[in-house]
Amino acid sequence: MFLKELELENFRNYESEKIEFCRGLNIICGKNAQGKTNILEAVYLFSVGKSHRTYHDNELVKFGADKSKIKIVFDFSERECNAEIEIFKNKRKIISVNDILIKKNSLLIGKFNVVYFGPEYLSLVQGGPKLRRRNLDILISQLRPNYFSFVTDLKRIVESKNALLKGNNVNMTMLEILNERLSSVSAEIIKYRFEFISRIEKIANRIQSEISGGTENLKMNYISSVGGVESLSKEEIKEALKEKLKSNEKREIEQKECLVGPQREDVEFLINDLNAKLYASQGQQKTVALVHKISEVELIKEEIGEYPVLLLDDIMSELDKKRQKYILENIKNMQIILTCTDSQMFRKKEDKKIIRVENGKIKR
Ligand SMILES: Nc1ncnc2c1ncn2[C@@H]1O[C@H](COP(=O)(O)OP(=O)(O)OP(=O)(O)O)[C@@H](O)[C@H]1O
Ligand SMILES: [Mg+2]
Repeated sequence: MFLKELELENFRNYESEKIEFCRGLNIICGKNAQGKTNILEAVYLFSVGKSHRTYHDNELVKFGADKSKIKIVFDFSERECNAEIEIFKNKRKIISVNDILIKKNSLLIGKFNVVYFGPEYLSLVQGGPKLRRRNLDILISQLRPNYFSFVTDLKRIVESKNALLKGNNVNMTMLEILNERLSSVSAEIIKYRFEFISRIEKIANRIQSEISGGTENLKMNYISSVGGVESLSKEEIKEALKEKLKSNEKREIEQKECLVGPQREDVEFLINDLNAKLYASQGQQKTVALVHKISEVELIKEEIGEYPVLLLDDIMSELDKKRQKYILENIKNMQIILTCTDSQMFRKKEDKKIIRVENGKIKR
C-alpha cells in the first residue's frame, strides 16, 4: 500500500491543500494545533470510513463551510487507485472508490489499509477494555468485511436489549429472541477475536523478545464471558453463551443492563507470565502497545501480501531511543506517515520527506 497523494478541501483547518507523499518515511512537522493530526485523520478516514477521534462527521467540515472533500491516490497491488469522500454538515457522506459510488461504509473497509498508532493507544495495556476491543475490531474489520457487519449487529442488539431491560415489565419472549440473536452474532465475533489474538500473539512474542534482548516473553489471551473458547466450535460457543445468558437473566433484569457478551470481553497481556496490567512498568506497558501495533502491521502484510500505511501520531517522543530506533530500522519497505513537533530526531534517515505544517497550510 502506497499513498501517493492526499487532497483536502475544507477539511478541519485546511481550505485547499494537496500533499504528496514518498514511499518511505513522511514526517509531518509543526507546532501544536497547526493541523498535523488532521492530516492523519483524513488518511485514516479512508480505512474504515470513520474518524479515529470523533463519531460526528460534521466536525470534520471546516468552520464556516458546508461541505468538505478529501481525495487520495494510492497504489495497491501495483495498481493505481483513487478514493474520494465528501462530507456534509447535515447529511450523510458520499464515498467513492475508483470513481464508483460506495453505498455503505462497510464496502469501503479493506480497500485501503492503515494501522494507526497515536497517544491514546499508549494506554492499550493499562486503560479500560473498550480500547482493546475497539482496536481489535478495527483490525479484524479491515481484513474480514463480514466481521464489521457482526460488530454493527451486536451493537444494535445490545442497544435493543438494554432498552428492553430498562422497562418496568420485561417482555420475556422478546428477551429470549434477543438473547438468541445475541448468542449467534457473539459466537461469530468471539471466534474471530480469538483467532486474531492468537495470530497477533505469535508475531508479538517474537518482536517483544527482539526489543527486550531476549529477556521478555509476551502472551495474549482473549478473555471471553464463556471461558476458554480455544477448542470450541462456533455452535458450541453459541450454546455456552445461551446458557450463560440464561443463568444471568435475573441479574440482568435486576441491574437493567445487558451484562454478558463480547461487548464486555477483554484481552489480557502477560509478560513472562505476569499480568502486564498489574505488574509491568509504564515503559513495558508502552512497549507492549508498540509491539501490538507493529504486529498488526505484520499481520496485515501476511493477509493481503503488502504492508498497510503506518500512521504514527506524536508517538516517537513518547518512546525511548531504543524503541524509536527499532521502529525506524525494523519497519522497512513500508510507508510511514508520522507527526512530530521536532524533526531533529530523524536527521540521519534517508528516503524521507519532511512536510511542514503551519496554521492549516503546508509550507513550501
Ligand atoms: N472543523 C474545523 N474547522 C476549522 N478548524 C478546525 C476544525 N476542527 C479542528 N480545527 C482546528 O484544527 C487545529 C488542530 O489541529 P490538529 O489536531 O491537527 O493539531 P496538531 O498539529 O496535531 O497539534 P498537536 O501538536 O497539539 O497535536 C485546532 O487549532 C482546531 O481549532
Ligand atoms: Mg496532534
